[in-house]
Amino acid sequence: PASRKARLKEVCARTAEFYHTQLMRGRGPEADAARSYLAGRGFGGDVPNTWNLGFAPGRGALVRHLSQLGFSTADMIDANVALAGRGGPVRDRFYNRVMFPIFDVSGDCIAFGGRVIGTGEPKYLNSQETPLFHKSQVLYGLDHAKAAMASSGVAIVVEGYTDVIALHEAGIKNVVATLGTALTLRHIRVLSRHASKRIVYLFDGDAAGQRAADRALAFIDKSMTPEAGRSQVDLVAVTLPDNLDPAEFVAARGADALRALVDDAKPLLEYGIERRLANHDLQAAEGRARALEDCLGVLAPIKESILAKDYAVRLAGRLRLRENDVLEALAAKEPPRF
Ligand code: UTP
Ligand code: MN
Ligand code: MN
Ligand code: MN
Ligand code: MN
Repeated sequence: PASRKARLKEVCARTAEFYHTQLMRGRGPEADAARSYLAGRGFGGDVPNTWNLGFAPGRGALVRHLSQLGFSTADMIDANVALAGRGGPVRDRFYNRVMFPIFDVSGDCIAFGGRVIGTGEPKYLNSQETPLFHKSQVLYGLDHAKAAMASSGVAIVVEGYTDVIALHEAGIKNVVATLGTALTLRHIRVLSRHASKRIVYLFDGDAAGQRAADRALAFIDKSMTPEAGRSQVDLVAVTLPDNLDPAEFVAARGADALRALVDDAKPLLEYGIERRLANHDLQAAEGRARALEDCLGVLAPIKESILAKDYAVRLAGRLRLRENDVLEALAAKEPPRF
């Protein structure tokens, strides 16, 4: 019922407030370390206020605070800010981490991401799915980014919370992040309500970013081709160079260099095909045959579409094969599982 969701939102809101107060005014070496960690990443000044960043001290401090405010332990557990102790008392879920509240499009807090201060595992601990929080449709920063998306028509999607914050602070405000998941069709639908022209996926230049790029291709299906008439928004992708992520890239090379990279992004299908072609020796006939199989895998999910056939013809040119042979191979190709 709505009243339960409203109560869980209240738990999240009070939790975000508590963590924020701990960051801004908490005493002790751990709160000091949290503040200097964030400042050292360029997240000092107004940034903690703008993004409502916080510090989770752990040791039951949150559970005690929420109990004093009258919340039941069941609500704390359901909001995933506390964990049922094994036979013992309820515990804080987040312990000695800098906290990134996750807001919905209206700016209500619905979940949290917590980063270890410095190094440690897991680097990020995120809220699990709750009645409020559905990872496959939430985009971090959308409440801050939606105005810039509407005016530019462009949405930029990055992998990390810290990338969103760093890009906003560098003046690029039409940016959101997925929450440790691949971009889904749900995300695309949400974004296309705000950005009318283009969705740009900026993949980290590391191995995980490359895997994310491959997974992003998996949701290309018929419903997304232009002839299906649904998606007027272009889906484009680019990988950051030199193992960098967006935050590192703007810090090293500036906002204009990032804008240039975004402007240079390629349609997701072309991006996927180019990435595969680059993995094969196109001088050798065997290499071209393997490249063909690989690239057809990208097109197979939409093989009935005019778009796929158009790419198949272009592929024939690149691989010096007969168009009809490539079209026939496409017709016979089963979609791969990513
Ligand atoms: P990254 O490792 O690229 O994160 O993972 P980052 O934002 O650049 O981290 P910093 O700069 O070291 O702070 C990308 C995203 O994958 C998810 C998080 O959502 C993260 O932002 N992730 C990563 C996790 O959920 N858990 C992890 O342990 C690591
Ligand atoms: Mn504040
Ligand atoms: Mn990464
Ligand atoms: Mn990073
Ligand atoms: Mn990263």
